[in-house]
Amino acid sequence: MTATPSAAPLDIVIFGAAGDLSWRKLLPALFMAHVHGRLDAGCRIIGAGRQPWDRAAYVRFIEEASRPLLKEPDGTAWQRFLERLDFVSVDAGQSADYARLQAACRPGSTKVFYLATAPQLFTTICEQLDQAGLIDAQSRVVLEKPLGHDLPSAQAINDAVARHFAEHQTYRIDHYLGKETVQNLLVLRLGNAIFEPLWRAPYIRSVQITVAETVGVGSRAGFYDQTGALRDMVQNHLLQLLCIVAMEAPISLDPDDVRDEKLKVLRSLHRMGPADIRQHTVRGQYTAGTVQGEPVPGYQQEANVPLHSQTETFVALRAHIHNARWAGVPFFLRTGKRMQKRRSEIIIEFADPPFSVFAGQPNAQRPNRLVITLQPEESIQLQMMAKEPGSGMNLKPVFLNLDLESAMSGRRAEAYERLLIDVVKGRLTHFMRRDELEAAWRWADPILAGWAQMNEPPRAYAAGTWGPAASSALMAREGGAWNEEI
Ligand code: BG6
Repeated sequence: MTATPSAAPLDIVIFGAAGDLSWRKLLPALFMAHVHGRLDAGCRIIGAGRQPWDRAAYVRFIEEASRPLLKEPDGTAWQRFLERLDFVSVDAGQSADYARLQAACRPGSTKVFYLATAPQLFTTICEQLDQAGLIDAQSRVVLEKPLGHDLPSAQAINDAVARHFAEHQTYRIDHYLGKETVQNLLVLRLGNAIFEPLWRAPYIRSVQITVAETVGVGSRAGFYDQTGALRDMVQNHLLQLLCIVAMEAPISLDPDDVRDEKLKVLRSLHRMGPADIRQHTVRGQYTAGTVQGEPVPGYQQEANVPLHSQTETFVALRAHIHNARWAGVPFFLRTGKRMQKRRSEIIIEFADPPFSVFAGQPNAQRPNRLVITLQPEESIQLQMMAKEPGSGMNLKPVFLNLDLESAMSGRRAEAYERLLIDVVKGRLTHFMRRDELEAAWRWADPILAGWAQMNEPPRAYAAGTWGPAASSALMAREGGAWNEEI
C-alpha cells in the first residue's frame, strides 16, 4: 500500500543534521529538487541534532559545508533554498526537545522523519516522536543503512520502528536503488523482448557485480572498523543489484509486486557453510600504496583504526541462487576501498555458441557480454563478435553502445534526490521492505560467523590494485576473470 500524497504542507525533519550524510548528500539533493521545481513552495527542512545551534548557525553550517558541493550553484536559488531551513537542537532521549520540535512543525503538516543517525538511536527517536504526538497516518520515516549489525539487531530495530510506523510508512533506503542505471536495468530487461528468453541458465554463464572505490575509509573509521565491507556494501547495495538482475518479472511496478520478487531471490540464495566460506569468499584489507598517482596510507595507518584491526575493506565472493532460472550460474560479487579505479558495473556473461565454425580462430572463444556501468559514467554496452576487416575470418570483439547520455537529453537526478522525491510522493517501490532486509541478513550472518570462526586476518592488498590475488583465483577456478580491461 502506498501513502496517499496529501495537499498538506510538508515538513522534512532530518535527524543527524550535522552528520556527513546530511550535508554531503541530503541537502545538496534537496537543493537540486528545489531548483528543478520538485519541492512544493511550502516544503520546509528542519535539521535536528545535538548541536546547540539556532536556525542561523545551522544555515551558516550548511552554507559552508554543502554549498561547495553543489552541481548547479545559483545565488538566488540557493538563498531561496536556505529560507526553507530551520533547526531544532534535539538530544535523542530528551522529551522536552521533542516538544520544541513539535512546535517547529506546522500544525497539520505531513512529516517526513529522515533518521540519518547511528541505528542505535532509531528506537529512541521513534518512541519520542510518538510520545510527542508527532506521528500520524500521513507521517513517513526514512531509515538509513546500516539497519542493524546482524539479523537479531535488524529485527529489534524493525520491531521497535513498527510500534510507531506502519510498514507502508517506513522507507528503508538503499541509495543504489535510486541510481539511474539500476532503474534502467529493469527497463532493459523487461522492456526489450530480445533479452528475456536468454536471461537465464544455460544462456547466461555467469554474472559479475563489482563496486570498486578509490576512496579509503576517510574520517569514518569509528563506524567502518565495526562494520567492514560485507555489512557496509554487500549485504545491501550489492545484494540489491543482484536482485534486480536475477528477479522474475513482477506483475506490476507496485511496491509489493517488485519487492515480492526481490524477496524470492534473497530467499533462494545459497546459505554458505564453512567449506563454501573457505572456498568461495575472500576478505582483504588495503595496505599502503598509490591511488591515481598519490601515495596513500594503509587501512591500519588511517586515523582512529585500532592497531591490528582485522576489519575487511574488500570482499569477493561467489553467490549462488537456487532456482530454475539460475541453476548453476555463479554470481561473483566484489567490492573494495582503495582500488585501482572507481567503477561500479554489472557484467552479464553469455554462454558460448553451442557450436562454433570459427574454432581455432583468434577470439573465437570470447563470449558475448552485457556490460552495465553505473559509475563513474553510466553506460550499457553489448560486446559482440564481428569480422575484422581484411583477409581471413578473424573475429574481433566490438561494442554495441547504448549511449544514454546523448540519446536522452533529460537531466539525470542523483540517487538521493530521486529517492527523497519518492518519499515525498509516497512511492515505496525503490525502498526495501522489512522481510527483504531480514532475508539479506539471513544470508550474510553465516558468512560473518564463518569468518569469525576461521579467525584469519584479511588478505593484504596494496592500495591502488584490484584487491588480493585470491580474488582473481576465486574466478579463475571457474574459468572466469574479473573485468579489468576497460
Ligand atoms: C555507502 C557506504 O553506503 O556507499 C560507503 O557506507 C560507500 O562506505 C558508499 O563509500 C558508496 O556509494 P557511491 O554512491 O559513492 O558508490
